[in-house]
Amino acid sequence: MHKINIAIDGPAGSGKSTVAKEVANELSYLYIDTGAMYRALTFRALQAQVSEQDEQSLIQILKEMEITLEQQRDGDVQVLVNGERLGEEIRTQTVTAKVSEVSAHRRIREEMVARQQQLAKQRGVVLDGRDIGTYVLPGAELKIYMDASVEERAKRRHLENIGKQRPSDITTTKEEIKRRDGLDRERPIAPLQQAEDAVRIDTTNRAIEEVVVHICGIAREKENED
Ligand code: DC
Repeated sequence: MHKINIAIDGPAGSGKSTVAKEVANELSYLYIDTGAMYRALTFRALQAQVSEQDEQSLIQILKEMEITLEQQRDGDVQVLVNGERLGEEIRTQTVTAKVSEVSAHRRIREEMVARQQQLAKQRGVVLDGRDIGTYVLPGAELKIYMDASVEERAKRRHLENIGKQRPSDITTTKEEIKRRDGLDRERPIAPLQQAEDAVRIDTTNRAIEEVVVHICGIAREKENED
């Protein structure tokens, strides 16, 4: 048995972070939420009143940020920036509205990808994001591409927001998801797309648990391959 690396990509609300977290937990792997890294940068940029278009200032901010992802006992990930804990503030609508623009810059992506590849060196990691199978870990032993209808994704995000007592409205949530889908899929650098060798899973009508079992099954087979 040897540890493998798992790449999980897909649009917002496809279920990838929940699945990635549970798969990592099941296999005793490390879960790395790459979206949280882009969110932490966006949060800091907003604090510093730096525009999402200002690549030079954004890269400056990023270079001064040491981002640590701390695994919690419940499987969640806590983001620390220079030792300071960030929580719900990286998930606000203000951050969500700007994160796709911030993450579209070439130099930002280069720096983030380098950091993510460094984290993956230890192996036995599950990374979730938009470009993991295509750019961050093109050699990952297992690549998953998760998708679901936009209606279903909006519904999930809305319920998640309500569950976490964040203000939410289903119509706005759906519009925001569509807007972000467009930006993430159409950006020139490392757009969201399925890697050729990824297993595609449509989660519209599938329970999370079922998807987790499916992925863990494939992962265990790969762990036992030579
Ligand atoms: O998964 P998320 O919603 O937390 O991601 C937030 C944004 O970050 C997403 O809209 C696009 C960007 N992102 C990215 O460009 N590449 C990644 N690997 C992860 C996220």
